[in-house]
Amino acid sequence: MSPAAPFESYCTSVVRPLAQTTRVERERLIAAAHYNLFRLASDTVTFDLLTDSGTGAISNQQLAALIMGDESYAGSTSFEQMKSVITELTGFPFVIPTHQGRGAENVLHSALVHAGDVVPGNTHFDTTKGHIEFRKAHAIDCTIEAGKNPTSDHPFKGNIDLARLEEVLQAHPRERIPFVLITVTCNSSGGQPVSLENIQAVKTLCHRYGVKVFLDMARFAENAYFIKTREAAYRDWTIRAICREMFRDTDGATMSAKKDAITAMGGFLALHDEDLYRHCGTFSILFEGFLTYGGMTGGTMAAVAAGLQEATDFAYLQSRVEQVGRFGAWLQQAGVPIVLPVGGHAVYLDASRFLPHLQPTAYPAQALAVAAYVAGGVRGVEIGTVLADRDPETRAERHPPIELYRLAIPRRTYSDNHLRFVADTFAALLQQRDTIPGLEIIWEAPIMRHFTCQFRIQG
Ligand code: F0G
Repeated sequence: MSPAAPFESYCTSVVRPLAQTTRVERERLIAAAHYNLFRLASDTVTFDLLTDSGTGAISNQQLAALIMGDESYAGSTSFEQMKSVITELTGFPFVIPTHQGRGAENVLHSALVHAGDVVPGNTHFDTTKGHIEFRKAHAIDCTIEAGKNPTSDHPFKGNIDLARLEEVLQAHPRERIPFVLITVTCNSSGGQPVSLENIQAVKTLCHRYGVKVFLDMARFAENAYFIKTREAAYRDWTIRAICREMFRDTDGATMSAKKDAITAMGGFLALHDEDLYRHCGTFSILFEGFLTYGGMTGGTMAAVAAGLQEATDFAYLQSRVEQVGRFGAWLQQAGVPIVLPVGGHAVYLDASRFLPHLQPTAYPAQALAVAAYVAGGVRGVEIGTVLADRDPETRAERHPPIELYRLAIPRRTYSDNHLRFVADTFAALLQQRDTIPGLEIIWEAPIMRHFTCQFRIQG
């Protein structure tokens, strides 16, 4: 079978029904949820595109692994199985399992990040930034300018601006920079990839300054697919060879297995250096669990081992990334304003351009999220003023440069037909966009308000 077969590299063997609701029911349900989609019960959502995290369909091999898992407290053979796959893929000899990605971040940051430090990178993910700021250190965003422009067609919008990074490396003493973090793909800038040329250049620059380099590898396989298909020098490389090259000469990586290991839970920290492994191990035992399970069941570790192998298969990646691309193209053809090029795991809609009649103070991306639920039972997520929250000092609302709304595509879960229906829902909404009302907040928590805050329709 040619690896370029234009269809999914798997077929379905277990299914579950989709929730079916009427528009009238959804109007009632969303009002009862105070117009916050996090407050909806999942059995009232037909197309759940809230996240691609822990929502993928597992394979028959993974199901078998879950059952065969070794649940021993110490020395689990499932851990050894997972570790050998990770070492093979990344080259890192030391692996600490964690309950999810932020668990790995907590262990690494506990060991390396201190008050007053700076951690440069390409738009750090929220939990990463949270771990840095929690320790009174600073995340410095060094993403290239094109990465911040929703209409730029740069093929690697997750790239790091090398001149900007060098400025940061010069401006701070080496002891204040625990590491530089490259997030592949870069979720916060739209699931945009980082080129291998850029990764190599960052490594060279950091090594010149004696600074460590880590990767946030949550979507590393999708990043490798973009390298193979967009970067001419690597066209003939296998996905696994590209992965090895991404990790070569770096110090380690944090992983959320809920993404490119296609499991419901799990994560790990992979490291190059034994001393750092010992140092991190202490925090792992404190926060996560013993070194051979760290918050995962044996079955989950075995399923991660299988998932990592499946997620680095070219035919799978092609069906995955190209499906997200097709979905983006359908939206674009219908005139829906989206961030281009389409990323690896999600399509981001520009809510300010979709709903030009709404000011940022009327939460346009949240208004779009509510309208999409009512129109088609679709659940996406607001990445705008609500998520940006208030300035901790002034308490003024922070307005990001664009009000985004994310439709993340779970792995191996929805068919093209499903996604066509979702695209048609937005095409129809676009025709009646003037009727979509803004929202106001009637209750909010002091931090992380987006999960629980309550809205009402602007009167
Ligand atoms: N790093 C990246 C790039 C992520 O996208 C996430 C999670 C994490 C780290 C944290 O991993 O959830 O396993 O603790 N992203 C999810 C999302 C929540 O919806 O994009 P976690």
